[in-house]
Amino acid sequence: MTYQDSLEFAQHKDHTDPLKDYRDQFFIPEVNGKPSIYFTGNSLGLQPKSTAKYVNEELQGWATLGVEGHFHSNKRPWFEYHKFSKETLSKIMGANPSEVVSMNSLTTNLHLLLISFYRPTKERYKIIMEAGAFPSDQYAIESQIKLHGFDYEDALIEVHPKEGKSTLDMDDINSAIEKAGDSLALVLFGAVQYYTGQFFPMKEITEAAHKAGALAGFDLAHAAGNVPLSLHDDNVDFAAWCSYKYLNSGPGGISGIFVHDKHGLNPDTPRLAGWWGYDEASRFKMEKGFKPMPGADGWQTSNVNIMSSAVNLAALEIFDNAGMEALKEEKYRTDRLHGVSAKKS
Ligand SMILES: Cc1ncc(COP(=O)(O)O)c(C=O)c1O
Repeated sequence: MTYQDSLEFAQHKDHTDPLKDYRDQFFIPEVNGKPSIYFTGNSLGLQPKSTAKYVNEELQGWATLGVEGHFHSNKRPWFEYHKFSKETLSKIMGANPSEVVSMNSLTTNLHLLLISFYRPTKERYKIIMEAGAFPSDQYAIESQIKLHGFDYEDALIEVHPKEGKSTLDMDDINSAIEKAGDSLALVLFGAVQYYTGQFFPMKEITEAAHKAGALAGFDLAHAAGNVPLSLHDDNVDFAAWCSYKYLNSGPGGISGIFVHDKHGLNPDTPRLAGWWGYDEASRFKMEKGFKPMPGADGWQTSNVNIMSSAVNLAALEIFDNAGMEALKEEKYRTDRLHGVSAKKS
């Protein structure tokens, strides 16, 4: 069925939406005493009714077990807490469980990933981004370029839509990549552009970046839980998301990262390290010399924020029950978001 801009079409989609019953699993804010139609999940997703139960379980564990909760918590020992979200996150991201981990917040994670994957040299130091990227990403990139001693104006290439257009065509992106050529170190895009809503063809962008000898990373803030993703098969090098938008995990909710196994399983991939990324089996020997966990887990720096992760787990359970297949079936939505043609025009 083709998209129509009408009330009948909207009502028809509501009635036939395979996910419609899930609305009852969330608290819906009221306006003038009536449940609102909430269009701001792109900023802050609604609270699942199950959230308090998940948080209370951990508060209870803390009250009754104290520090022992790290290893003997009723259901989910805190020592392993980051593992409980892996299975569902891997389905949402289209990744291997080893490639994803939830931790920190989004901009912090972008910095941690840039330290690993923006490794500029005198010859290859430029970064391509979509023009008008979310300010935090712009500031992160600006500071990373300066941190490495390069000139920001020279090192950053922003791709603008053609005159009269508000979204990019793949040939805009391809020509910027081809033009940068051997000077290109990294392509960093928002997978779904925060302002225009354009869903970029991640596979094609990644391929084009790799062809130029550069890496490709994505900010998934507006994509995670919103559109189908296949980060592993698309050969994306790295990505990070926040969970407070489409993943319904509360204000400032925990972020997460994807590191492709081709980098994550290599212990020599450079990174900023902390004890929670250290080999789990020998972590408490407290020895010198950093031995990373294999996969994305090796980028963890600090022990897990349990309350934030509990909120995240409550929401992920809903995603798991709904199934990512159902999300994929909402194809009209994806087609509308795909403003970019993957083919060269
Ligand atoms: C695309 C995008 N990137 C980055 C951020 C910043 O996220 P945080 O404050 O969690 O670091 C946001 C926040 O809305 C965003 O929309």
